Amino acid sequence: MNELDELAEEIKVCTKCRLAKGRINAVHGEGPSDARMMLIGEAPGRSEDQAGRPFCGSAGRILDRALREAGIKREAVFITNIVKCRPPNNRKPVADEIKSCLPYLVRQINIIKPEVIVALGSVAKESVETLCTRDQGNLRIGNAFVFQTYHPAAVLYGNRKAYEHLVSELAKAAQSINAQQQI
Ligand code: URA
Repeated sequence: MNELDELAEEIKVCTKCRLAKGRINAVHGEGPSDARMMLIGEAPGRSEDQAGRPFCGSAGRILDRALREAGIKREAVFITNIVKCRPPNNRKPVADEIKSCLPYLVRQINIIKPEVIVALGSVAKESVETLCTRDQGNLRIGNAFVFQTYHPAAVLYGNRKAYEHLVSELAKAAQSINAQQQI
């Protein structure tokens, strides 16, 4: 078992916050342990809680479309969330839940060492910012460049601009990996 799998096992049985009580599955994330891109959403929804996989419901279908349009293979990316368990009725995770869960994300980032991280939506943006440094106008976590865009669910409510921004930030993040490769 590799380090990422061991961490997943730890997350699956976590009882650090109240969200553990209502979950079917803790959703640690999905993707290769050496992924160059990491996507971070807010929290599992109903489908994700049932399946134990991130972004496999309606928001996931939009994310899949956006990734395709940006020329990115979903299987090449590590996808996770700020909190790993579903909040009741899909409410936003609250501060103490985020605080309990964030160390898992930090450990995932330290193991995977992605080159780019894309925060999806305001909860991911605000939580990820607490881990960021600023370097010549760029947000970074360690060596990773951090991008911020809309949550795919925003598109479910008819926000076309959000979809365009989502696709363009994903494409920019992918280009940044390619640019780093050329150095
Ligand atoms: N919304 C999220 O933020 N994450 C998921 O995994 C699914 C929906």
